[in-house]
Amino acid sequence: MRVAVLGSAAGGGFPQWNCNARLSRAARAGLPGFRRRTQSSITVSANGAEWALFNASPDIREQIAAFPALSPAPDAQLRSTPIACVVLTNADVDHIAGLLSLRESERFVLYATRRVSEVLEANPIFRVLNPAYVERRLLNLNETVALEGPSGPIGVMIETFAVPGKVALFMENDAASDRNFGTEDGDTIGLRITAAANPDESLFYIPGCAAMTDRLRARLSGSRCLLFDGTVFTDNEMQEAGVGTKTGSRMGHMHMAGPAGSIAALRSVDIQRRIFVHINNTNPVLEEGSAAERSVLESGWEIGFDGMEITL
Ligand code: MLT
Ligand code: MN
Repeated sequence: MRVAVLGSAAGGGFPQWNCNARLSRAARAGLPGFRRRTQSSITVSANGAEWALFNASPDIREQIAAFPALSPAPDAQLRSTPIACVVLTNADVDHIAGLLSLRESERFVLYATRRVSEVLEANPIFRVLNPAYVERRLLNLNETVALEGPSGPIGVMIETFAVPGKVALFMENDAASDRNFGTEDGDTIGLRITAAANPDESLFYIPGCAAMTDRLRARLSGSRCLLFDGTVFTDNEMQEAGVGTKTGSRMGHMHMAGPAGSIAALRSVDIQRRIFVHINNTNPVLEEGSAAERSVLESGWEIGFDGMEITL
C-alpha cells in the first residue's frame, strides 16, 4: 500500500496568507530550514491506479499537481481521475473546502459520518458535487468499510472510531460553551487504514485529537505507523507568538510537548513509526534545527512534510 502526505500543515498552511510572525515570515522569504506546507490531506492506494483521498484541503489543486499519480494518465479518457473516493475525518474548512475543486461532473464516492454529512447538506454550495456523479455514503462509528470508487472496491479498508475533538469551528454553538460548543461523537474521527489483501499493511490517521484516552492508547498499541495531530507544540504557543488568543485545547488539539503532551502520552505505547501531521504555522518544530524540532526527533517522532511517502 502506498501512502503519501499531500499536505502536512494545519488550517491556514505554512506560511499562512495573513501571518507575519517569525515562522511564516521566514517560510515566505524562502529561508533554508523553513519548508512550505499545504493544508491537511493524505492519499492512499493499494493498486497504484485507484487512490483514496483522506480529507479534501483548500490546496487540493496544488496537491494533485505535485503528486502525479493523482492526475489523469496520458492515455486515460478525455475526462478522468485516479481519485476513486474521498474520506472526511471532520468538517473543518481545511478538510472539506477542497471538495469544491472536485466539481466538474467527475465520478467518485464521498464518505463521511452523519455529523460531517449534515454540515455538507446544510451548506448548499456543496451541491456543486452533483449527486448524479458523486455518491455520498455514510460512515458509522466503529465500522470497517471496504472503500469503493465508481468501479467498485479499491483494495483499501478503513475502520472508523470517534476521537476526542471539537465540532467544526464555523459550527460552534457558543450557547453550549460548557458542552464543548455542541460537539458530538462523529464530529472528529480517527481511521485505521489497511490494505485489504494484507492486514499487516496498516496505519492510523488521526489529524485531529483533543486528548489521549486509555481506549485510544490501547487501540494504537502494536501498530506499524501513526499519523497524528501535530497542530501545536505547546498549548499556549499562539498566545506566546502574539497571533491569537486560543489555546490548542480550545481548538480541539493536543499539544506535543511536556507532561500532558502527545509525545509523553504515547511514549510507552508500541508504535513502530510515529509522524506528526496537521502542523500549525505557529509550531516551532517548523524551524529545522530548532530545539523544539530536535526534541521531537529525539523522542522518536518524525515531522511530516508535503510529498512524504510511506510504504507499508
Ligand atoms: C482546526 O483544525 O482547528 C481547524 O482546521 C481550524 C480552522 O478551521 O481554521
Ligand atoms: Mn484543521
